[in-house]
Amino acid sequence: MIESIRARQILDSRGNPTVECEIRTKKGIARASVPSGASTGSFEALELRDNEKAFRGKGVLKAVENINKVIAPKLVGKDPTKQRELDGIMLKLDNSPNKSKLGANAIVAVSLALARAGSLLKEKQLFEYLAELSEAKEMFLPVPQMNVLNGGKHAGLKNDIQEHMIMPIKFESYSEALQAGCEIYYILKDMLKQKFGARATLLADEGGFVPPIENVSERLELIDKAIEEAGYKGRVYMALDSAASEFFYENTYVLGEEELNSGQMIDFYKGLVESFPIFSIEDGLAEEDWQGWQELTSKLGSKVQIVGDDLLVTNVERIRKAIELKACNALLLKVNQIGTLSEAIDAAKLAFQNNWQVVVSHRSGETCDPFIASLVVGIGAKQCKFGAPARSERNAKYNQLLRIEEILKEQGKARYAGKFL
Ligand code: PGA
Ligand code: ZN
Repeated sequence: MIESIRARQILDSRGNPTVECEIRTKKGIARASVPSGASTGSFEALELRDNEKAFRGKGVLKAVENINKVIAPKLVGKDPTKQRELDGIMLKLDNSPNKSKLGANAIVAVSLALARAGSLLKEKQLFEYLAELSEAKEMFLPVPQMNVLNGGKHAGLKNDIQEHMIMPIKFESYSEALQAGCEIYYILKDMLKQKFGARATLLADEGGFVPPIENVSERLELIDKAIEEAGYKGRVYMALDSAASEFFYENTYVLGEEELNSGQMIDFYKGLVESFPIFSIEDGLAEEDWQGWQELTSKLGSKVQIVGDDLLVTNVERIRKAIELKACNALLLKVNQIGTLSEAIDAAKLAFQNNWQVVVSHRSGETCDPFIASLVVGIGAKQCKFGAPARSERNAKYNQLLRIEEILKEQGKARYAGKFL
């Protein structure tokens, strides 16, 4: 039974306020906090900000008050293991199409803390509890997409590809894959320092470097060299998140000095895929360019994973549309894009039913809450995207996966997803 619910304003990795919620039961306190995007999709659920002087408008005291004064009185006394029912109560209380009344940040904080409280009451590991909630059929240690070179909004740049990632796929275990990712990251750092000086090794929002290289092929060449030098050629692949809605202006994509239409963007990706071992392209086109997405998927989808982030915003309606239109073949899952854990689980289920891949993702603004590490394993997804192996808000997740791997190993159930992609 829920004895009390209490929320507060804390800081995220960018120093912006965010919401933390605590739920007390006889098993103690279950705590969860909320991440925040920078390149947010326009169809995401609303992140409620105070828009007052404090924190330059970014305060979340209204969302906090909505938990303490509106949500808590309705949930105290209830059984936190009834996740779907309690998420439903919050949805009804909000009763807006995009969670704008209570704020998705308020609702997510409670929804995640409920799952933690439920796992404590049932004396289960969070990932095991989430596997029960989501009725997952299988469990894997996920392949990480590690964002080693940052660009775009996360690096203070405009009209640029946002994320250049490595995917250590061909490994026997998660811990070996993680180690390979780290070793490549160190080599990349050495290479950048040698070529551009130490300033090029400062870190952007998701822990990746921001070298003064504007050309995407040159960035990927550098990553390719680092993979080779680390001794992992052929075992580590690459992935991109373009976050293309950020550089889409009235039917034109502006990449650096170049102006491209959808077809030219697709040709650009085709060229990259022919030159580099690219496994996955996320938000290669803008969130409303459905036709472009269809063409991208029909041209490259059999070779490359085509991931919808801003396109889908973890929303079953948009996922359904994308399935019908064959607009992509993988879902990027971010719980705070939709607002409740139950809805995020529904999104994952719909994706799995249609043989899509699901990539559980962090946001560019994070806290050290490792919830999504348990989530990716619990729902049976095979990939996660948690940033570079640097900065503790990113490594909190990678480290939690190491703990989960240990537990699953002891049970003889540790399977690295690399072989199953
Ligand atoms: P965001 O970026 O958290 O700033 O939206 C992450 C992503 O685009 O995947
Ligand atoms: Zn994205």
